[in-house]
Amino acid sequence: MISLGIEGTAEKTGIGIVDSDGNVLAMAGKQLYPEVGGIHPREAAEHHAKWIPQLIPQAMEEAGLDYKDIDLISFSQGPGLGPALRIVASSARSLALSLGIPIVGVNHCIGHVEIGKLDTGAKNPVTLYVSGGNSQVIAYESGRYRIFGETLDIAIGNCLDHFGRETGLGHPGGPVVEKLAKDGSYIDLPYVVKGMDFSFSGLLSSALRAHENGERIEDICFSLQETAFAMLVEVTERALAHTEKDEVLLCGGVSANSRLRDMMKIMAEEHYAKFYMPEMKYSGDNGVMIAWLGQLMYDNFGPLDIKDTAIIQRFRTDEVDAPWVDNRKE
Ligand code: ATP
Ligand code: FE2
Repeated sequence: MISLGIEGTAEKTGIGIVDSDGNVLAMAGKQLYPEVGGIHPREAAEHHAKWIPQLIPQAMEEAGLDYKDIDLISFSQGPGLGPALRIVASSARSLALSLGIPIVGVNHCIGHVEIGKLDTGAKNPVTLYVSGGNSQVIAYESGRYRIFGETLDIAIGNCLDHFGRETGLGHPGGPVVEKLAKDGSYIDLPYVVKGMDFSFSGLLSSALRAHENGERIEDICFSLQETAFAMLVEVTERALAHTEKDEVLLCGGVSANSRLRDMMKIMAEEHYAKFYMPEMKYSGDNGVMIAWLGQLMYDNFGPLDIKDTAIIQRFRTDEVDAPWVDNRKE
């Protein structure tokens, strides 16, 4: 079976084509770079509406396939920006209806975990998924992917990007902060882990205040990273200890950061767990993860009725039964 997936929950849209063995036949994508400020949901929608019709034929050509070879359309149903999700869903619907093939809607966050497993060979990891819009510690338990910890306010990527914009470092902030952090030393910033959740908005305000107070930018960047990443690693570590799993997976755009990778790796090693990271092209948002999760969902639940293909803007990771995780262990 060949599945075509459409992603577009935030500022990036992508098409992926995979077969039922998980072979990637094509991958195409396009990212919106806002000229000023952050991402506006409507601009993201316009961007996706412009690019999806161009990326689909591009992916088909890359795969060397004809439209009659496609057996399934998969799309990210949520979570994400409403207007962007609606463009993705309506593109998927029109494609499935015009080709007369089944459609499935999938959870974007689970897509990250499943492509991470497919690309690295991890079987049942504790996953830290960190991006511009999401920060979650996810692990499979009793039939579903459970959220063991998550941000109480903004995502870590959003925190770094906001800091970058406000201090004139530019957007996205993550890569610039990483570079400057190399020449920094520690200043005190608030470390906020509540139960198994973390919070970044107070940390962001304090970092911005330190900047206003004339602290060295390198020192703020270093301390922002050390503090935020320690929070993420602490919660991942506690989930690992609780679940007694022996694999750790890091994914999402913020996983480009080598300091975060090193901290996660050290933590995993201390627990005799294997540390995995997918190739960077599969770590950020992409259509392949949607096409692949579509295969898993379709195998287990069959197609969605068109009337059930409405977007789910606040789609939670733990709303989806994931029987394939146990089945594949056998
Ligand atoms: P999602 O829809 O999953 O929230 P996204 O639209 O935020 O994804 P990604 O490509 O997964 O897209 O992540 C982008 C984020 O990654 C940005 O916030 C960016 O600052 C951050 N980032 C990129 N490189 C680095 C880096 N080297 N260090 C820290 N953060 C980084
Ligand atoms: Fe994502």
